[in-house]
Amino acid sequence: MDKAENKPAATAKSPAGLEGVVAAESSVGDVDGIRGVLIYQGLNIHDLAEHSTFEETVFLLWHGRLPKREELDALRRELAASQGLPEEVLALVRRIPRDAEPMDSLRTAVSALAFYDPRSRDLSREGALRTATRLTAQLSVLVASIERLRKGEEPVEPKPELNLATNFLYMLKGEMPSERVARIFDVCLVLHADHELNASTFTARVIAGTLAGMYGAVTGAIAALSGPLHGGANTNVMKMLLEIGSPERAEEWLRDALASKKKIMGFGHRVYKTEDPRSVWLRRFSKEMGEARGETRWFEILERLRELMFREKKLYPNVDYYSGSAYYLMGVPLDLFTPIFAVSRISGWTAHILEQYANNRLIRPRAEYTGARDVPYVPIDER
Ligand code: SDX
Repeated sequence: MDKAENKPAATAKSPAGLEGVVAAESSVGDVDGIRGVLIYQGLNIHDLAEHSTFEETVFLLWHGRLPKREELDALRRELAASQGLPEEVLALVRRIPRDAEPMDSLRTAVSALAFYDPRSRDLSREGALRTATRLTAQLSVLVASIERLRKGEEPVEPKPELNLATNFLYMLKGEMPSERVARIFDVCLVLHADHELNASTFTARVIAGTLAGMYGAVTGAIAALSGPLHGGANTNVMKMLLEIGSPERAEEWLRDALASKKKIMGFGHRVYKTEDPRSVWLRRFSKEMGEARGETRWFEILERLRELMFREKKLYPNVDYYSGSAYYLMGVPLDLFTPIFAVSRISGWTAHILEQYANNRLIRPRAEYTGARDVPYVPIDER
């Protein structure tokens, strides 16, 4: 301990952006950024994408193991029973300006959900699991309702017999998606569910670490996810594709963007120094949706940019690179891509919050002070 500064000497200077700093112990998920391996509670993301469902993944993240059949059925029933939004929250969403960013609307509505949950401050394992179930069920209903109401349409009631992915697409459009589209969307939710101490999950844990309630922790996480360096990148990738317009223009566009030192959305990652394993699946879905809709140019631009970015900068696509083009071809508006990320990531956020509550210590690091000291106080008329 450095007595003069009252700080452990070894951590007096921390790396920019806390790069490489281990800030929590967790069994929820792990990212091996060198080998490109992502696991949730020990299970490889590729196995989950191949065989699992979002509901099963939610159980896995919360309980640390795959559910037995009756446990999965019980979770499905609890999610279906928790979908109803308080009328007051729907009334609030009705009053949100139509041109509001859906991520801002979602953040505000999730914060308001706490008013109408009398057990919102119950941080026991059982109480927090119940809140996690409510939030996971209600987020998808909220996002679909926000979209319907801003278009001047009434929200569509969820159907309790549908899984969360199918229900979301159904509530959004008011019509059933094809089985294949619903399955692709379900796997997208599995792929986005958790990613270790990413910025929004870290935010959630910091808030939970003060023993604040789960609604507050999730509200903060939604704000963190909305930024373009994090979840907001998926919308920006699609905007970039629309701006480029055709594969022939990709190279010139990228050269200009790199020359003006722009960050190219959907590329790079703090942890992955190789391919993000999630992007392998999302690339397939982007291609498949393009072929199914007879609109392959978005995928062609993506592939052209990918080759060029690797050649020029040795950077790989991240999770936000391909997802938007698949959602776009499902008819989802651009500014709902990041709320959809939240519809999935709520499972990881809540798993981490549960873990934080179970073994809590306040998260309170130190800053390296770079300002002046011993500055004399000058009375206001003498400055
Ligand atoms: C997500 O952390 C998670 O796990 C997040 C996430 C999750 O599941 O929760 O995976 C989800 O947030 C994905 C990331 C989405 N964001 C983007 O796609 C935005 C574009 N990408 C970047 O701005 C950037 O790569 C970050 C924010 C993702 C990572 O930033 P870092 O680790 O701080 O890296 P950096 O900005 O310091 O870049 C290192 C170098 C720099 O070059 P040099 O100055 O060393 O020469 O790589 C370059 C950067 O200029 N670089 C890029 C780039 N990303 C990095 N150059 C151009 N375009 C890019 N996208």
